[in-house]
Amino acid sequence: MIENSLKERVYSPYSDKSNEWCVVLGSSGMAYPGVRIENIAFPLTITSIHGALCSCLANGDRPAAYVTDSESLDLEEYWADKFNMEKLDGVPASATLYNPVLSGDINPEQELKKLTHQAVIPHSDFPVAALLKTDEGFVPGVNVEVESWTLGLCAERVALFRAVSHGLTGFSDLLVTAPKGDFSSPCGACRQVLMEWIPRGRIKLHHGDGSHSTHNTMDLLPYAFSSSKLTI
Ligand code: THU
Repeated sequence: MIENSLKERVYSPYSDKSNEWCVVLGSSGMAYPGVRIENIAFPLTITSIHGALCSCLANGDRPAAYVTDSESLDLEEYWADKFNMEKLDGVPASATLYNPVLSGDINPEQELKKLTHQAVIPHSDFPVAALLKTDEGFVPGVNVEVESWTLGLCAERVALFRAVSHGLTGFSDLLVTAPKGDFSSPCGACRQVLMEWIPRGRIKLHHGDGSHSTHNTMDLLPYAFSSSKLTI
């Protein structure tokens, strides 16, 4: 049962919301798992339903229903209403669990380029794609925009959310491209999230002119927000 493994993947060092998981079911029959992923900068927390929805949309799928046993999910009614999602008691046996790990021998640069076509960008027409290297392989992410701009997710965070929700570990490199940008570069919010997950990682940026540059996460966010007072 996927539900039981999801509880173990929740990342909630700053609260007691250690049970917050959700599975979004796409109209394709695919099930997209999500767990709460808190951040030391609380507003950057990705809630389970938010991330699972973005994971679904980033896969070109349409959210149709969701499953959770958490008492209430942040903005649950909002999301259910926006996407006309029905709440189910359990994940249907017919559903296929979405596996975000790219299989086979992939060429990361070509894969990044391909991925940009999956970006969900009705407002910006500005695609961003990310590949997070994990112990089991690369996990993709693209930017997802929804009606409320504040509730979209950057490509980097979609990739990270998928990896954590699938129980993957060993995050090392993150590759990012924003082909319409002059210089691809993760936003400040993503940098803060990356500091929490791959502070010793390498961020490889593929720029619009075909060049690339590699940076240490820590160099991208000197004086990152942090406090030992916030961990419980
Ligand atoms: N975007 C990302 O995906 N990653 C970043 O680090 C910066 C911005 C996306 C968000 C939005 O869909 C579009 O780029 C314009 O801000």
